[in-house]
Amino acid sequence: MNHQPPDVAVIGTGYVGLTTAVCLAHLGRNVVAVDIDEDKIGRLRLGEVPILEQGLDELLTEGLQNGRLRFSTSYQHAAEAPTVVLCLPTPSQSDGGLDLSYLEQAATKLSQILQTGAVVAIKSTVPIGTNQKLSKWLAREDVQVVSNPEFLREGTALSDFLYPDRIVIGAQQASAATQIADLYVGIDGPIQLTDPTSAEVIKYASNTFLAAKLSFVNELSRLCDHLGGNIEAVTEGLGSDHRIGSAFLTPGPGWGGSCFPKDTLGLAHVARMAGLKLPVVEAARTSNEIHQQYVIAEIGRIVQRPLEQARVGVWGATFKAGTDDTRDSPALEIMAELNRLGASVTVYDPAARPAEIPAETAGDPYTVCMGADLLVVLTEWPEFATVDLAKVAGTMREPLLYDTRYVIDNAKAAKAGIALVQPGRMPSTS
Ligand code: UDX
Repeated sequence: MNHQPPDVAVIGTGYVGLTTAVCLAHLGRNVVAVDIDEDKIGRLRLGEVPILEQGLDELLTEGLQNGRLRFSTSYQHAAEAPTVVLCLPTPSQSDGGLDLSYLEQAATKLSQILQTGAVVAIKSTVPIGTNQKLSKWLAREDVQVVSNPEFLREGTALSDFLYPDRIVIGAQQASAATQIADLYVGIDGPIQLTDPTSAEVIKYASNTFLAAKLSFVNELSRLCDHLGGNIEAVTEGLGSDHRIGSAFLTPGPGWGGSCFPKDTLGLAHVARMAGLKLPVVEAARTSNEIHQQYVIAEIGRIVQRPLEQARVGVWGATFKAGTDDTRDSPALEIMAELNRLGASVTVYDPAARPAEIPAETAGDPYTVCMGADLLVVLTEWPEFATVDLAKVAGTMREPLLYDTRYVIDNAKAAKAGIALVQPGRMPSTS
């Protein structure tokens, strides 16, 4: 057991907190990670990882073994550190605002016990202006609040942390900014120093921009469906313009996850509260809803019988591959709607928890195809590309496949006698 005082305390061991804690320990910092969930802390102490995230178990084990990573349920342990990083949940409310009560409660506790001159960084996504609220809740003139947003993608969170495009530090005082920058010593990435409010805006702006980019590319795939053209060629031409960039141009069944829906809603909400209209932000959201409805309508069009009589097999339930997270997954929306329309839906996903799926589940990709009138791919799990399509075709009532994620090879599908439809591409003929 390491008895050195921690360099940094990470409060909250959810997705962001756990990634932050293990990565900072990997970088050589002495870290204490604090969470009020005793059961979770007990498991983390044993090296048990509660989420699916590539590389997390290795870094957790490394930190536990070399003693640089400790877990605690006590805020007293957090207060031993000169730097505290808040990674607490900020759930969405029905009007798009965020519930900041976890942050407020943490601030109230920390206020009594923080070291003189401590720096508290907010890593949770928070409404613009929260840094000032947190200062008020802490009510400590000697404690600085810094905004240090995260840009971690699920599935690649560790590499995003260790090899970032940028580290944004929003601070009023240079000394507080330096203290946060010191956490990242060992990372070869640019650090942008700015004020706390700009840092908060950067977080919302980045996620909203990416969501809008995807809404637009999904619109282009609908356009190609109707007017012809190949979406792959279109995005290749579009993305070759360096001002646009080729990343984040793959159409899908709509964007989802724990960040884009919440952050676009959050930005629209803060703008509304300020009496401003941000039509691009609103349109990105509306377009995504329209796109999901379009995917459902396409399923109804492609399947060769009325939906009430149709069996639909689905591959994929998580909002993207590489995670077990189904929060705001378009796949769930689409399945639930198909069920409402009377279709019989069975799904296979290699990682999602069956309890979170609004349809019958199966333990392998073949079972869902048995007697199916249509197979729909909703998540881009790489293993779907290697499924034996001849075997799939053999069990389906109609060998029809709608692949919204472009994981199925056209030639392989044709060879197996499967008619493959992919958004924005002319259908194959088998
Ligand atoms: C996102 C941001 O990328 C990350 O910086 C932020 O901190 C948290 O939110 P994440 O939600 O993990 O990360 O997923 P991301 O990889 O960004 O994908 C979001 C959604 O867009 C998913 O539904 C995904 O399937 C979809 N997507 C992404 C596409 O449909 N096409 C693409 O080309 C990329």
